[in-house]
Amino acid sequence: MNILVTGSSGWLGQNLVLRLKEGGHQVIGLDPVPGPHTDIVGSVADRAVVRAAIRDNAIRGIVHAGALHKPQLATHDSAQFISVNVQGTMILLEEASAPGSTVERFVFTSTTSLMISRQIGAAHRRGLHRAFWIDEEMAPLEPRNIYGVSKLAAEHLCRMVHDASGLPIVVLRTARFFPEEDDMARDIIQSDANIKANEFLFRRLTVDDAARAHIVALERAPQIGFDTFIISALTPFSPDDCEQLVEYAPMVVHRYFPRYREIYARRGWTMFDCIDRVYDSTKAMRRLGFVCSTDFGDILAQMDRDDGYLDVPVSRVPWAS
Ligand SMILES: NC(=O)c1ccc[n+]([C@@H]2O[C@H](COP(=O)([O-])OP(=O)(O)OC[C@H]3O[C@@H](n4cnc5c(N)ncnc54)[C@H](O)[C@@H]3O)[C@@H](O)[C@H]2O)c1
Repeated sequence: MNILVTGSSGWLGQNLVLRLKEGGHQVIGLDPVPGPHTDIVGSVADRAVVRAAIRDNAIRGIVHAGALHKPQLATHDSAQFISVNVQGTMILLEEASAPGSTVERFVFTSTTSLMISRQIGAAHRRGLHRAFWIDEEMAPLEPRNIYGVSKLAAEHLCRMVHDASGLPIVVLRTARFFPEEDDMARDIIQSDANIKANEFLFRRLTVDDAARAHIVALERAPQIGFDTFIISALTPFSPDDCEQLVEYAPMVVHRYFPRYREIYARRGWTMFDCIDRVYDSTKAMRRLGFVCSTDFGDILAQMDRDDGYLDVPVSRVPWAS
């Protein structure tokens, strides 16, 4: 299939293009930044570029992963977020659904971050009684920054264009898969690799799984029509755990993984005392047929097998690469 991938020079985009090509697809990458998988150096906010990209290449599927996102909050203003994430998405959707367009499926990379309000984000500092159990039904959505607001607006544009044109569109609210250190982790005592491993319990996935989710969504879009899915490693927790997760999370983790303390101790790793939110990705499992291939249990098993690689740089730690 001829597929247009926006954001093809990015972390997810490069991984995704590679996988799509391995799967036998013809892929056209579009990104303002040149890269090994970028064929068109340009912006989704430029209608002429988008129109030519779709028409000249008889594009049948689009994965829209290109965006300004969290790291750019420090360097770009709100108008730029609106221009790229909202206006750019609208242009792409309009061109994809225009009369004569060959596009028959569309996948939009959204973010779990848009479900985090200012209140949820700061809850752990305010005597939270139970962790937030976050699924696709959560409402109202009150994103705390322009990144979340622009992504939520883009999600609405996806729904609106699907309603008007019937173009199959799948929205993936993806949890974190970035390899960099979290700039919000300053007050966390654990090392970066330790933090990332912990996060697989409730809010992280590998970039490989993120790419695979997009491929499954592309395949399934015509049967699905329109829907929104949280994509994150499957959590072992249930809503019944939410009180204990904020009281003392290590106890809950120990219940599900009795050997975790011993395996962690070999590296001097520890669990977070408090887990304040859990992303529930079971809808993706049920309706999209997608489950992340790496979860916390896999990481523990891997750590158990590969005992002694305490000093492996995080870029080489499998779940961060
Ligand atoms: N990294 C994460 O943990 C994470 C979590 C949730 C959602 N996401 C989403 O996943 C997608 C990819 O993120 P990533 O981590 O690979 O980020 P990235 O910054 O590595 O890649 C994003 C790419 O989008 C490109 N881009 C920027 N402006 C563009 C424009 N006007 N037109 C086309 N492309 C443009 C950038 O040049 C970059 O190559 C983004 O939509 C992001 O919001 C990322």
